Amino acid sequence: MKVLVVGGGGREHSLAWKISQSPLVDELFCAPGNAGMARLGTCVDIKAEDIEALAAFAEREKVDLTVVGPEAPLVAGIADVFQERGLSVFGPTRQAARMEGSKHFAKSIMQEAGVPTGSAEVFTEFDAAVDCVRRGSPPYVVKADGLAAGKGVVIARDERAAYEALRACFVEGRFGEAGKKVLIEEFLEGQEVSVLTLVDGEDILPLAPAQDYKRVGDGDTGPNTGGMGSYSPVPVMSPEDYRRVVEEILRPTAKALAGKGIHYRGILYAGLILTREGPKVLEFNVRFGDPETQAVLPRLESDLVPAMLAVLEGRLPEVELKWKEEACVTVVAASGGYPGEYRTGYAISGLEEAGSVEGVVVFHAGTRLGEGGEVLTAGGRVLNVSALGSDFQEARERAYRAVEKINFTDIYYRKDIALRAVEAWESGR
Ligand code: GLY
Repeated sequence: MKVLVVGGGGREHSLAWKISQSPLVDELFCAPGNAGMARLGTCVDIKAEDIEALAAFAEREKVDLTVVGPEAPLVAGIADVFQERGLSVFGPTRQAARMEGSKHFAKSIMQEAGVPTGSAEVFTEFDAAVDCVRRGSPPYVVKADGLAAGKGVVIARDERAAYEALRACFVEGRFGEAGKKVLIEEFLEGQEVSVLTLVDGEDILPLAPAQDYKRVGDGDTGPNTGGMGSYSPVPVMSPEDYRRVVEEILRPTAKALAGKGIHYRGILYAGLILTREGPKVLEFNVRFGDPETQAVLPRLESDLVPAMLAVLEGRLPEVELKWKEEACVTVVAASGGYPGEYRTGYAISGLEEAGSVEGVVVFHAGTRLGEGGEVLTAGGRVLNVSALGSDFQEARERAYRAVEKINFTDIYYRKDIALRAVEAWESGR
């Protein structure tokens, strides 16, 4: 069969890597892809947001399955357009993608389903939102309702920071329509964990949990990023926590969506906080996590393609996924300056050497091929170095041994990825 992967980051490279291993797949296309994905299939110069061009390509090439990586095309309705044209697509429709496209919508589904989550108030006016801040106490969690390229959530440590976040949405219009509605939410305290599940209506099949690192600096310091590293499984998450996530969060959410006549097909990503009262939902996303996927898929023993097809064909209960016992650690190599200003176009060396370290696979996140076929940096997050190991200590040692072999001007990576997993693993938590 022919498969098209939409997107060009590390998540999409790891999806393309896993999909290309399937004996069911004869031909792989990536749009737009990156220098790493170009080694697995044919990269097509179509942007992930250009839905019409993607559908025309899939029709022309008779693509059997399209897998959508990023949220923007899903929220914009790529699945609807493909389905209208009779094209098979893995990802939720526009209506279902509101679970990520509107935080207000997701919160109302959670409230209806009785899913544990932080309490929230919704505002469409600056003054009313300011009143809420005056009545409350810090920290204040201010969330723009719509998609804001990962910048729409502010944890404000004092009233002044909360007003600034509200001003950005309502007065400056920094996020356009996405910021015209704002949620002020209860702050949830605890470790953050991501659990993703395959969903077909009320049927779910959860994947292994992962944890990501959002801050740019060691010790969780500095500004938020798209993710500086990840690991799977999550030793601080007990089997009982995982069971509660599945039974008290994922299953009731799928059921509530189905009850509203919304048939969700694809991946549903629950961003969770392990609070003292148990796991609570921070947010839902409607696609694979980045960089969680890069640490989860190397642990997946089973073929992913039949599982995706089962979602689309109403056969999800027939599927069983087998997981490797090994731990996986992913270290993100970024351009110096990221998530602020950074330069691109630098030559990357050491990729082959890094990839030859035992258990390691190097996923490309922001790369492109130069005129002479050399691999160049092309984004803030450049590479995701994932390593399997018999435990976290070994996986971590391999990931860092590999990343140290890679070089480009101003390369930057965190040095503490999965350190807390090593500690938790060793202390048996
Ligand atoms: N790792 C966070 C995200 O994918 O949204």
